[in-house]
Amino acid sequence: MGDKKAQLSVGDITAEFDVLSGTLGPEVIDVSSLVKTGYFTYDPGFLSTAACESKITFIDGDAGVLLYRGYPIDQLATKSNFLEVCYLLLNGELPDASHYKEFCKMINRHTMVHEQIRNFFNGFRRDAHPMAIMVGVVGALSAFYHDSLDIKNPEHRASSALRLIAKMPTIAAMCYKYSIGQPFMPPQNHMSYAENFLHMMFGTPCEEITPDPVLVRALDKIFILHADHEQNASTSTVRLAGSTGANPFVCISAGIAALWGPAHGGANEAALNMLHEIGDISQIGKYIERAKDPNDPFRLMGFGHRVYKNYDPRAKVMRQTCYEVLEAVGLRNDPFFKLAMELERIALEDDYFVKRKLYPNVDFYSGITLSAIGIPTNMFTVIFALARTIGWTAHWNEMISSPYRLGRPRQLYTGPTERKFVDMHDRV
Ligand code: SDX
Repeated sequence: MGDKKAQLSVGDITAEFDVLSGTLGPEVIDVSSLVKTGYFTYDPGFLSTAACESKITFIDGDAGVLLYRGYPIDQLATKSNFLEVCYLLLNGELPDASHYKEFCKMINRHTMVHEQIRNFFNGFRRDAHPMAIMVGVVGALSAFYHDSLDIKNPEHRASSALRLIAKMPTIAAMCYKYSIGQPFMPPQNHMSYAENFLHMMFGTPCEEITPDPVLVRALDKIFILHADHEQNASTSTVRLAGSTGANPFVCISAGIAALWGPAHGGANEAALNMLHEIGDISQIGKYIERAKDPNDPFRLMGFGHRVYKNYDPRAKVMRQTCYEVLEAVGLRNDPFFKLAMELERIALEDDYFVKRKLYPNVDFYSGITLSAIGIPTNMFTVIFALARTIGWTAHWNEMISSPYRLGRPRQLYTGPTERKFVDMHDRV
């Protein structure tokens, strides 16, 4: 902490606050003592508020930089793999060979789900959205591990983290299999994390599959690129739920719920649905005009970002991967994917989008890539949740293992002032 101070004067009150510096990024004004003056800050949407201190992920939205524990995202996406990134996010350092081997072994030990978990699926309609099932089933995990739910115990926290990372692909694939009426496929521990997921999604007991290595690598990259993104809406939800002392499985379930919205993780699904709605290249102009009309609620899904006012560095990597997958599956000239690429081109040149720095985000390209891999649209956000589970878990663990307080925002009340209760027969 430096000696720099910030002053705020309201009427005859002057308050002084410490200015804190991190290792990177803007300095922050520590307003936590403001409450003593009788005032609160007001910041809907948290545009100017840092809610916590963290060592996990750094974003410079103007420069288009994203670092996990200091490592640039493009280097991790091209040189690492998802489980190595999970280790990094959880523990702060890249693993050496023996730690990595041990970590993979521990993950593999937890890939199966308890047999009783299968029964939860039968309670859902076959046409239930898989995110609805995920919220329920992941929350239900907390009913299975009574002996290791002491959040103050670092070993219990570590085993919850391993269970969550290991079981998410199994549960996600079960959601899909349930919706199409096929038997659940057990995990295969000799396969890589992404390969095993494709096997559980597309294999059947009567036909084993060998996933295409290009698609396996692409999916692994999608997992890495979605693994963490500092204090986004769902991570902040996990932290807020965690600050009450709730167990990690329900906190992650709360994160999944927050992720579902189309302004957040639901954007990949919404982007694909939008492309289907546009339908044909000849219609793009009409939809661009609608997106620009302030009186029309239509927005280009998969474009724009709260923090990035430059190209999303994840989108750069994902764009390349998207092209590789389209090539590998022979869809480069498919009319639907040509429509997506044409929309991208037009929006990148249009003055409205250029002026507002509205670039395609990672979910625009990941949606197209997942679709080309053959993953149904309603599974896109589930895959985002699968990948983000490590970020949520790392943030939850970071918070619980350092001093923290119950999250309790205040408000600017604009409702009625105090008034007297009126008996029903006297009300007009
Ligand atoms: C994710 O935060 C994270 O880290 C999230 C995430 C993660 O990894 O966790 O990165 C994942 O959630 C990615 C974002 C996915 N969402 C979408 O793709 C949905 C479409 N995007 C927009 O709804 C929007 O851009 C948001 C919600 C992402 C960001 O909204 P902001 O920061 O509140 O920006 P804004 O709504 O104030 O927009 C500023 C201007 C407005 O125009 P003006 O009033 O200034 O004239 O840009 C316009 C907006 O109308 N605008 C768009 C637009 N997005 C913003 N216009 C058309 N199409 C769009 N998509």
